[in-house]
Amino acid sequence: MNLTVKNICCIGAGYVGGPTMAVIASNCPSIQVNLVDINKNRIKAWNEKNLNKLPIYEPGLSDLILKTRGVNLHFSTEIEKCITNADMIFISVNTPTKTKGIGAGKAVDLRWIESCARKIGEYSKGLTIVVEKSTLPVRTAQTIKDILKAYEDNNSKRHFSILSNPEFLAEGTAINDLECPDRVLIGGDEEYAIEALENIYLNWVEKEKILKTDIWSSELSKLIANAFLAQRISSINSISALCELTESNISDVSLAVGMDKRIGAEFLNAGPGFGGSCFKKDILNLIYICNHYGLTEVADYWEQVILINDWQKKRITKKIIEKLFGTLSNKRIAVLGFSFKANTNDTRESPAIDICKDFLEEGCNLSIYDPKVEKEQIFKDLIINSENYSKLETTDTIEKACLNSDAIIVMTDWQEFYKLDFLKLSKIMRKPRFIFDTRNVINLKEAKNFGFRIWNLGDGSFQ
Ligand code: UDX
Ligand code: UDX
Repeated sequence: MNLTVKNICCIGAGYVGGPTMAVIASNCPSIQVNLVDINKNRIKAWNEKNLNKLPIYEPGLSDLILKTRGVNLHFSTEIEKCITNADMIFISVNTPTKTKGIGAGKAVDLRWIESCARKIGEYSKGLTIVVEKSTLPVRTAQTIKDILKAYEDNNSKRHFSILSNPEFLAEGTAINDLECPDRVLIGGDEEYAIEALENIYLNWVEKEKILKTDIWSSELSKLIANAFLAQRISSINSISALCELTESNISDVSLAVGMDKRIGAEFLNAGPGFGGSCFKKDILNLIYICNHYGLTEVADYWEQVILINDWQKKRITKKIIEKLFGTLSNKRIAVLGFSFKANTNDTRESPAIDICKDFLEEGCNLSIYDPKVEKEQIFKDLIINSENYSKLETTDTIEKACLNSDAIIVMTDWQEFYKLDFLKLSKIMRKPRFIFDTRNVINLKEAKNFGFRIWNLGDGSFQ
């Protein structure tokens, strides 16, 4: 059986669905792509004329939207209609960790996935390929299958084929990751469906990069890829603490270690801990599965990756308090960067959240500058109440954030933080002025010449 896909519907217009569909639409002009979402405001923002107002910031995305929107990429809330018209449906909805009930704090809340499956079952027609894009616990496809099976019947000739096609894009580089992927992974058990999806990717991806496997291996590969990446960060962060105590330098250690081809240079930058919507959630999920199958030792092994991540954040807060003479009460700290990494406006699990909350708890005044995160988001993340409302402000320039502050803490490696104007800052900050660099972006010698006291993460020579 051959199936040429002409109409795609993607449910979930978020950080994954948005860029992924923009790249598919741009590379496949003969396919109509409908991106749908239950959130009306999000869809409205995707349809904004002013491309600076798109709901997510991602380098290169607005150019693609300009090229494809209204041509073969459409954003709407008409979920049912778009499902009915589609030959292929991507599920790209969020899958948060459960907050209540069995598995709370570890297992994934599948309620959105289930409701999507039911909607697809109800409204689709004929032969439909359903593609899991969201990162899901292993064997979720079986749940989707079971639900859809109930809607299949011989009279309407309805049939569903489920594929797992995990997303490996990283925010901030999503468009490039999608245009030039290291690999594309397709898991499935029906050849015609796998081929139909493969043919879409073949419009811009080399055949050798497309891996095909069974659904379970595909789902598991995604979890494990993220767990390995996060593990590298926790490993290097654990060593950053040792470097600080032994007059060694974590950047030099990373470089020397990473030049070993067997290890590789990527993902060895020490920092304030990993954030983002996936790493913690996926590892928690891995731990949950391991425990479920009685692999307690394996679960404990992976749990350490998360424990080190939490410890790194706390360790930074403690270090800053210690350096600022044991108290933050009524001090003013300028926080540079609030997103979980550079080049995104996403703050999910950003280490800045935990660290800033601790600062506020200590009675500190905070002025936060981030080039892309909205003020409302920062206030929402820090759960500002009447008690600490007056202690927080956000600014639209670095200078305003630093005005009259005792210390600067660099939380995110945005490009503009590599070239701070120390002369200007030294004139507007209180003395003694401190810089706490959690991302190794500051020119230490220059900052020192302007009278700054510096703490550079993982750098024993500056402690
Ligand atoms: C999410 C998950 O976090 C990630 O694990 C998964 O791999 C992909 O989906 P992301 O795109 O970053 O990633 O999430 P988010 O930006 O929150 O977008 C999800 C969208 O789905 C939201 O806009 C939400 O409104 C929408 N949604 C959710 C639906 O349209 N229907 C639903 O039933 C539930
Ligand atoms: C990650 C995976 O990289 C991607 O493949 C998957 O699809 C989704 O999850 P993302 O979370 O968007 O992507 O960003 P990533 O670049 O992986 O960064 C995650 C966190 O690790 C960030 O907080 C980042 O600052 C931190 N990090 C990354 C480090 O601290 N050091 C590094 O060397 C690399």
